[in-house]
This record gives sequence, C-alpha cells and structure tokens, in this order.
Amino acid sequence: MQSPHIRYRYPVFYELPNSLKVLFTNVLIMMGFGYVFGLTQIWEVHHLEDGKPGLSVQDIQIAYRGNRSGTRLEAALRGSMSRHIDPAKAETIFQWIHQGASEQGYNETIKPILDERCIGCHGGRMGGIPDLRDYAGVRQTVNLDEGVSIGTLVRVSHIHLFGLTLIFTVMGFIFSHAYIKWRHMKSLIILIPFLAIFVDIASWWLTKVSPAFGYTVIIGGALMGVAFALQWAISMYQLWFLRPAVGETHLAD
Ligand code: HEC
Repeated sequence: MQSPHIRYRYPVFYELPNSLKVLFTNVLIMMGFGYVFGLTQIWEVHHLEDGKPGLSVQDIQIAYRGNRSGTRLEAALRGSMSRHIDPAKAETIFQWIHQGASEQGYNETIKPILDERCIGCHGGRMGGIPDLRDYAGVRQTVNLDEGVSIGTLVRVSHIHLFGLTLIFTVMGFIFSHAYIKWRHMKSLIILIPFLAIFVDIASWWLTKVSPAFGYTVIIGGALMGVAFALQWAISMYQLWFLRPAVGETHLAD
C-alpha cells in the first residue's frame, strides 16, 4: 500500500500513456506548421514596407508608426521646390511634419515661412497647384501616413493576447512533462514567451510614440520564437527518445 506521505509524482514524457503521447505529438506538429505560417505571414505583410528586400526594423517602424517622410510637401521641398527655400527653414518644416503637422505649430512657425517664400505662386491664383495660404490648404499636402490605426491595433492586440496565450499555455503544459536537469530553467522557458508576448504587444503601441520601440518588437518576437523552438524540440525529442538508464530516475518537477 502506498503511504499517504508520498508526494504525487508528476510524470515525465516516457511515463505518459501512449494515447497522450500521440495526442501531444500531433498537437506539436500542427503548432509547428502554424508557427511557420505565422512567420511567413509576418514576412509577407511587412518585408516590403520600406521598399527594400528583407525584414528590417525600418519595416516594423513604418508599419506601426507610419512613413512620415512620405508627404507631398516634404517630397516637393526636397525636390522641385527646394530652390525656393533655404535648408534651415526646410528642416523646420520637416520637423513640424514629423511631429504631426499640428495647427498650432503651423500658426507659430510654418505660416510665416510659407507666406514669405511660397504664396507668391501658391496663393490660389494659379490653378492646379496647392493653395498654401491657410492650414486647410497646407494640410492637404501633408496627408500623414500614421501607420496602423488605433482600431486595428486594438483588434490585433486582443487577437494576439488570446491566441498566443492559448498557444503557449498548451505548449507549456506539454513541455511541463519534460525532464530538465536545472529545475528553474524549465520554469524560465515556460515563463519567457509570456513576457515576450507582453513586450511585443506593448511595443506595437509604443512604436507610435517612439520609433526606438521597433527594436523591442523584434526582440519580443525573437524571444517568443526561441522559446517556441526550445519547447517544441525538447518535448518532441523526449516524447519518443528519452528513456531512463538502469537505476536512473527523471523527475519532471
Ligand atoms: C515660382 C513659383 C513657385 C514658388 C515660389 C513655389 N512653388 Fe511650389 N509649385 C510651383 C509649381 C509651378 C508647381 C507645380 C509643378 C511642380 O510640381 O513642380 C508647384 C508644386 C508644388 C507642390 C506640389 C507638388 C506635388 O506633389 O504635386 C508643393 C507641395 C509645393 N509646390 C510647395 C511649395 C512650397 C512649400 C514653396 C515655398 C517654399 C513653393 N512651393 C514655392 C511653383 C512655385
């Protein structure tokens, strides 16, 4: 008879019934495919954002924050209109655009420059070219690309929070049957993806505030990928190949 003092021993992979091993194996295979498609989707959606091949921080920044250099006004001032303005004043206008082209900023610093340099031609008399006499007219030449909308961000955030949490709960549960020599390492590998989900999603929002968070989006995603790969590979290996040598015991705690 078993003594009531003996603590319930959590089974390692090879102690599981075959039915459960088959179930876990199939879940892992499907999730593996799911992950590959997920990565392909990220690549497809984002890699050409900056017009250059390869997925870069810049692609991420443009996706979430928008391409604030791509306005007609900035393009004109860097191109055909550059001869009507000196570089320092042009720079003032670029900064104003990148900070969101506010009406207050327009009144304080931009209007005087345009009044002096531009409205000789852009004063509404010449048809077909932008009328730069007031904010409404100027605003039409700075249709800012501000990246994903808040609505979209709310939608993808909630989908990812639920989806990824579910995925890593199932993965973590399967992986909990692994034998890892260093006990805390196992908990760490289970914890990391959850931290990464948080970092990743928070960074999507923060990239709107500062482009530097484009880097943490990538770090978060990479951490998640490493944790996924580790949990997947260790679980799959131990499910079918780890066996105790004579006199050896593996604990899954
Ligand atoms: C000598 C007249 C003249 C002056 C001065 C002038 N522009 Fe223009 N601008 C034009 C003409 C003509 C066009 C249309 C042809 C073209 O795009 O080059 C134009 C086009 C533009 C466009 C539209 C480009 C597009 O994408 O359609 C913008 C924006 C613009 N100018 C901004 C400015 C600003 C800002 C200044 C002041 C720094 C300025 N312009 C000064 C004559 C002028």
